[in-house]
Amino acid sequence: MIEDQDKREPLSTEPYKGVRDFYPADWARLTATFNTIRTALELWGYEEYNASPLERAELYESKTSEEIVNEQTYTFEDRGQRRVTLRPEMTPTFARMVAGKRRELPMPLRWYSIPNLFRYERPQRGRLREHYQLNVDIAGIADAKADGEIIVIATEILKALGAKTEDFIVRVSSRPLLAAACAATGYDNEEAIRTYSRLLDKKSKMTLAEFEAALGPGRADPLKEIENPTDEKVREEKDKLMSLLEAFRARGLTNIVFDPEIVRGFDYYTGIVFEVYDTNPANPRAMFGGGRYDGLVGMFGGDPIPCIGFGMGDVVLMDFLETHGILPEIQTGPQVYVGTPSESDFFAAQSFAAQLRANGIRTLVNSSSKGLGDQIRDASRRNIPYFIAFGEQEASFGTIRMKTLATGDEQEISVEDVAARMSGS
Ligand code: HAM
Repeated sequence: MIEDQDKREPLSTEPYKGVRDFYPADWARLTATFNTIRTALELWGYEEYNASPLERAELYESKTSEEIVNEQTYTFEDRGQRRVTLRPEMTPTFARMVAGKRRELPMPLRWYSIPNLFRYERPQRGRLREHYQLNVDIAGIADAKADGEIIVIATEILKALGAKTEDFIVRVSSRPLLAAACAATGYDNEEAIRTYSRLLDKKSKMTLAEFEAALGPGRADPLKEIENPTDEKVREEKDKLMSLLEAFRARGLTNIVFDPEIVRGFDYYTGIVFEVYDTNPANPRAMFGGGRYDGLVGMFGGDPIPCIGFGMGDVVLMDFLETHGILPEIQTGPQVYVGTPSESDFFAAQSFAAQLRANGIRTLVNSSSKGLGDQIRDASRRNIPYFIAFGEQEASFGTIRMKTLATGDEQEISVEDVAARMSGS
């Protein structure tokens, strides 16, 4: 057995295709970004929830997106012959949790979550097989107040991260508007509307000739009806959407626009749908996608509860922050490296370190048998800003020399003053 193992190729250090390892600096950056978002959302009264990535497969099979269910889920049978899916999105879980405690939960509720999601996609810029997705949802408000709030929240999040109005654009449309325009132009059943919607969803990736060919000869294009409504219902739905957009303009939100080509891939949307895009063409994929879904909670029995929300993926978000030069500065590593002149100083250095930690200073104590020169080099390599050697001499005199590694400057200070001198670093 042991001999066989020795002959094997060494195991790969690469992660599974399309997923990421987060080394500490990467994880710290992502965590800092999400913490800024948490703070922004909590100021608006949103509460964080979570759930397991494992769900019953049937949760996704009735009402989400055919493409996701048939081609993109990781589904398997567990040892008890239950079909299990690694969640490809959070919305069905959110609806399940809301439905599960509908009587106890105070409505309306405002929740957010940052789950990792799994989709079997072709990995490419902005698309991976596992991503973290901020989900922000409101349950229990059926009117445009929630539509307005959720879109404003999307813009507030980007602003909290340092983005300017001109860095992004929110494109809004409406499912009932599209359905009415389809009905008015001869798409008279759900299947025909769905086929057209799918085509419209892909329009931006096609030439006009390709789009018209796919539409079919002599087929009317519902987009034209949306542009210049002739039908009463289309006009009514368009007016509703326009008054929402007008309300944004009145609040000075100029980067929220009507775009009838926004369709979204999920079948559960029943009202407005929207996506947020980077205005820099380096990131052409949607950062946020969301909309109103008033029928999903009702699938679990009982009265339906109207919901609206969005998902925003970390992959496209981090590309956005990088493109605009607003990635967060991270300071989570140790602030000070306590060196030991000799190995016998380790315990004295630890008690000095304990004093620093008690004052909130992130402190690392040398645990190697290297000389002080090598310890200083080690501290530099770890990007730790300060180095203090602490041995018998420092312990008995009560003063230390604090070295600033970036400049090489040294200062002699009393042990009591170290914490005060360092806070703010
Ligand atoms: P979605 O459009 O599928 O919506 O995803 C929302 C966002 O998640 C996308 O705009 C993108 O930033 C990110 N995303 C999606 N798939 C991937 C991927 N494979 N790799 C990297 N990022 C990705 C939903 O999932 C809806 N459930 C959102 C929602 C919440 N609607 C209402 N509430």
